[in-house]
Amino acid sequence: MKIKNVVIIGAGAMGSGIAQIAVMAGYNVTLVDIKDEYIAKGMSSIEKGLNKLEEKGKLKGTSAAALIGNVNTTTDLAKAAKNADFCLEAVIENMDVKKQVFKTLGENVPKHCILASNTSSMSISEIAVASGREEQVCGVHFFNPAPLMRLVEIIKGEKTSDVTVAVARSWSYSLPCLKGKRYCPIVLKDRPGFIANRVNAPTMILMQWAIDKCAEKGIPFEQLDTDAFNPMSPMGPLVLTDYVGLDIAFHTMQYYVKTLHPDFAPGKVITEYVEKGQLGMKTEKGLFEWPKGKKPILERTKKANLFTVEELYAIQANESCRLLEEGVVKDWTTIDKTMDAGYNAPGPMAFLVDGNREKWPKLLNELADKTGREYLRPCELMKSSAYRELRVVK
Ligand SMILES: NC(=O)c1ccc[n+]([C@@H]2O[C@H](COP(=O)([O-])OP(=O)(O)OC[C@H]3O[C@@H](n4cnc5c(N)ncnc54)[C@H](O)[C@@H]3O)[C@@H](O)[C@H]2O)c1
Repeated sequence: MKIKNVVIIGAGAMGSGIAQIAVMAGYNVTLVDIKDEYIAKGMSSIEKGLNKLEEKGKLKGTSAAALIGNVNTTTDLAKAAKNADFCLEAVIENMDVKKQVFKTLGENVPKHCILASNTSSMSISEIAVASGREEQVCGVHFFNPAPLMRLVEIIKGEKTSDVTVAVARSWSYSLPCLKGKRYCPIVLKDRPGFIANRVNAPTMILMQWAIDKCAEKGIPFEQLDTDAFNPMSPMGPLVLTDYVGLDIAFHTMQYYVKTLHPDFAPGKVITEYVEKGQLGMKTEKGLFEWPKGKKPILERTKKANLFTVEELYAIQANESCRLLEEGVVKDWTTIDKTMDAGYNAPGPMAFLVDGNREKWPKLLNELADKTGREYLRPCELMKSSAYRELRVVK
């Protein structure tokens, strides 16, 4: 199927980034939002991105102005949908709003059109029902910022056809990535967090426990951030949580309480900070101070010794084994590549297989005993080591 006309719904952080790379790939792009001012903001962000690339000489055979000219805009979704070959929804993370968008799309797009959602957490199968054409709906999950992040997860809903997955995947691979080669794994089951976010999710359980311990013992959060700081990364894990927003971490954890396990409950400190509106960078104060949004400067002379990088990797490996048990993915090689593309960090499974098969299950049991969080115990697949067979050898 040849895709020419692409409609992106939602001109926010994600939609504008995806529209930028779609127009760079040569598609006719229509960007849709509910108000002209939101469209103007999205277009200005696309323009900024394209101008920067032009200055660096990275727009071969075209110009920022020509590309901007290929982005149409409208607030009329039904009209935009009429000629669409591929629609990508990137509106706010609200199920009712997403369902309304998919209903309008279902009623207006041509028969062959593929519909995709960029949701980071919601059920693709549920969104798909609203369209009335479930076979043609899948998840296409970009990471922020879409022009720079290599990973795009392609999620199969309960009724998504193989053709839909194949078309969405090849479309995703056709979009340029400004930092390396795109990686677009297929997520075989529509489970919370898909792959990358899910593998990382239970590290938040340990982090919440450790943050509350710090507060209890009067240990500065700077020391806890230093426990797992990688000098190659721009930020440690706590500074990153502040950067993304404590409210986002809080809501994500609540979502995992509902969908995975009660141990994901947000800790006392985060709950208190969110309640009083101390949300991190965007409010200039979170776990750290962010004067005028400026990153905190940490001296890192001392550690809290409440967790280690190895423990975080063991937790990620355990969650990877759960993904294999649930059939979300069939081999661990894909999980490691997904983590590399989504977090710019090596995935946990090669470390488990090569040297930690006996050590990490013990370490996880000790962590569960220490924290009282049962979810951290090793799952059956991890205990059995049977994951070793589940790999792709090239
Ligand atoms: N920001 C991230 O880091 C990130 C990463 C991956 C996926 N996502 C997902 O991508 C989606 C968009 O996130 P975002 O960060 O770009 O949000 P955002 O708040 O920056 O933008 C959302 C846009 O959708 C528009 N919108 C709302 N209702 C609409 C409707 N009915 N029709 C058209 N437009 C509508 C809003 O006006 C807004 O401009 C969400 O599902 C989010 O979970 C976000």
